[in-house]
Amino acid sequence: MRRSPSPERFHLIVTAPSDDLARFARDVKTGLTASPKFLPCRYFYDREGSRLFEEICRLPEYYLTRAEREILSEHAEEIVARGSHDVTLVELGSGSATKTRILIDALLRHQKSLRYVPVDISRAALEESARALLDHYRTLSITAIAGEYHDGLDRLRAIIDGPKLILWLGSSVGNFERGEAAEFLRRVRATMTVSDRLLIGIDLRKDRATLEKAYDDPSGVTARFNLNLLARINRQLGGHFDLEAFRHRALYDEEIGRIEMYLVSERAQRVAIDRLNVTIAFAPEEAIHTENSYKYSLAEIDALAEAVGLRIERQWFDAGHRFSVNLMAPS
Ligand code: TRP
Repeated sequence: MRRSPSPERFHLIVTAPSDDLARFARDVKTGLTASPKFLPCRYFYDREGSRLFEEICRLPEYYLTRAEREILSEHAEEIVARGSHDVTLVELGSGSATKTRILIDALLRHQKSLRYVPVDISRAALEESARALLDHYRTLSITAIAGEYHDGLDRLRAIIDGPKLILWLGSSVGNFERGEAAEFLRRVRATMTVSDRLLIGIDLRKDRATLEKAYDDPSGVTARFNLNLLARINRQLGGHFDLEAFRHRALYDEEIGRIEMYLVSERAQRVAIDRLNVTIAFAPEEAIHTENSYKYSLAEIDALAEAVGLRIERQWFDAGHRFSVNLMAPS
C-alpha cells in the first residue's frame, strides 16, 4: 500500500465510486448490443487509462496540452489578478493536475494559503495528484471529490462559501455534444456568484491532418488508450476481447467539427463477456464508437458562452493559434 496523502490537509469525498461494477456492466451491455455499437467515454479513465492519458499529453502530436500550458504560463498573473482575493480553486477533471500548478503558483503570490477542490472520475488519480501537490505546497489544502462532474458540482455549494475560480482545462468540453456542453455549462453557471470565474480551455477548429495526427499518433499510445477500454472489459467483466483483432481509428468530420474515435473489428468475430452473459457478434470492419472530441470556432465559443449566461472577459491563444483559454464571468 502507498501512504495516503497528508491527513490534516486532505479530505476525500466519494460521490459515485468510479469502480461501480454494476453500472459499468449495464453500460457495456447497452452499448455493445446497440446498433451502431458504442461505449461511454467515462470508462477510459481507470488507473491504466489515466496513466495512458498522461502519456498522450506528452506526445509531440498531441499539441493541446502544450498549447494550453503555454497560454497558462504566459498569462497566469493576469488570470488570477482579475479574480477576487482569497479564492478557492475548483477543477473539473483534474487528472494529474500538472497544469494546475501554474495557477496555484500564481494564486499563492496573492494569498497566503489556498484551498483546492479537484473533481475527477478517477479516485486513484486524485489521491496521487493530491499527494504530490501537498508535498510541494505547504499552505495548500485539498478537498477532493471522486465522482462525475454533475455530482461534484452538486457538492460545491455545501463545501465552499467564498469566491471561486473554476478550471475546466484540456478541452474536455469537447467531449460533450454541443447541446450537452451548453446544458452542462448552465449547471456550472448556476453554482457561480458574480465574483466567481470560469477558466475554460477549448481546442479550435483546424486542418484535418493536424487533428487526425493528434488523435492517432504514430507511436500508438492513443491506440493503446482506446483499446484499454476492451482490456478493462476483459479485466472487470470477464470479457474475451482479443486486442490484436481490433484497431484504433480517428476521423475528423470537418463539417460537424469533431474528431470521432472508434475501435474497429479486423474480422468477423464473436466475443463472449462472461459476467454479462452475452456474446457480441462483430462483422468485419464493424466499429465501436468510443469518443467524440468537438472543436470550436471563435464564433462557436461566443455563442456557447452567450447561451449559458456567461460573458468572455478575456481570451488568450497560443502562438500557433491552435488552442484557446477563456476567462468567463456571469453576464
Ligand atoms: N479530452 C481529450 C480530448 O478530447 C480526450 C482524448 C484525448 C481522447 N485523446 C484521446 C479520448 C484519444 C479518446 C481517445 O482531446
